Amino acid sequence: MQQLGDRPLDWIDGAVSMVDQTRLPDSYEVMRIESVPDMVAAIRRLSVRGAPAIGVAGALGVALAIQAHGTSGPDFDRAIHSLREARPTAVNLARMVDRVAPLAEQGLDRVLAEALAIRDEEIAASVSMGEYGADLVTRLVSERAARAMTICNTGGLATIERGTALAVIQTLHERGTLAEALALETRPLLQGARLTAWELARMGAPHRLLVDSAANFMLARRQADVVLTGADRIAANGDTANKIGTFSLALGARYAGVPFIVVAPESTVDMDTPGGSAIPIEDRDAGEVVSVRDRPTAPANTDAANPAFDITPNALITAIVTDRRVVRHDRGDSLRSVPLGELRRPANQ
Ligand code: MRU
Repeated sequence: MQQLGDRPLDWIDGAVSMVDQTRLPDSYEVMRIESVPDMVAAIRRLSVRGAPAIGVAGALGVALAIQAHGTSGPDFDRAIHSLREARPTAVNLARMVDRVAPLAEQGLDRVLAEALAIRDEEIAASVSMGEYGADLVTRLVSERAARAMTICNTGGLATIERGTALAVIQTLHERGTLAEALALETRPLLQGARLTAWELARMGAPHRLLVDSAANFMLARRQADVVLTGADRIAANGDTANKIGTFSLALGARYAGVPFIVVAPESTVDMDTPGGSAIPIEDRDAGEVVSVRDRPTAPANTDAANPAFDITPNALITAIVTDRRVVRHDRGDSLRSVPLGELRRPANQ
């Protein structure tokens, strides 16, 4: 098996080294990605996934483009285009490719340094989101230990280190203020069952898995105190794109009077997109719906719709927590009204 560096997404000996998330939890396999087409394919099939992680993967992909095509020219441009278009919804991918690609003229080392700087920024952001988010949750649940529901996978796999929503859950757990995490399995590709349950087990956090359709009933029965989700893109008005099912969860949380908190780094906030209707939503292959892990679950030739993300309107979001601020919609805050604050570190560091 390929060796992995210090991080689950790294540059080793002229190639990108990363965990193949499609193989978890059955096996922990590290892939060596040596070309832009292989990186694009890995991003599309979700071997690497989660908004911050695909941003870093895209940035490292620019280094692969230089190795194959030099620092400019039509082949280089085509490679860059294919990277930034590999998935449309998470703003991090195009944003990080666009940040790194103009540095190509300064050479491979400069591009690699910037890509790895982006990775380190995301690592620091994940720590900070955990701190801001855990403080907010504890305030919202009146200082009791919290039962936190979450969807999809928003942990270290999706962001390199601690994650977004899952960073908050991990921080609550480390502080001794997590009563239970409730993870939605997240059909069709089961990121919650395969990846979040795996990460929660590794951190030793108390947790249970739910079928997606149990979530709103459990919220209505007040079996969770807070819903925490990640985001693939947050528009200027606070509308948020995230994994399909997030919007339903927000409706259920509002019905039940449970706070619904979006956790994402500033790198996922897109002030150039005014509202949710302008966020492109990825439509994925129907085959993912009519099967589970490649085993058919519907009659042959059944067609299916497969939007990978949905939009949660800002009105259903209690607060947005980033690495630099807490935007309390419930108190009339907006992304435009709350200035950026400090990155946070754990109190004991
Ligand atoms: O299709 P995926 O698995 O890439 O979707 C990921 C999500 O929806 C996450 O919630 C989002 O990227 C934020 S996680 C850091």
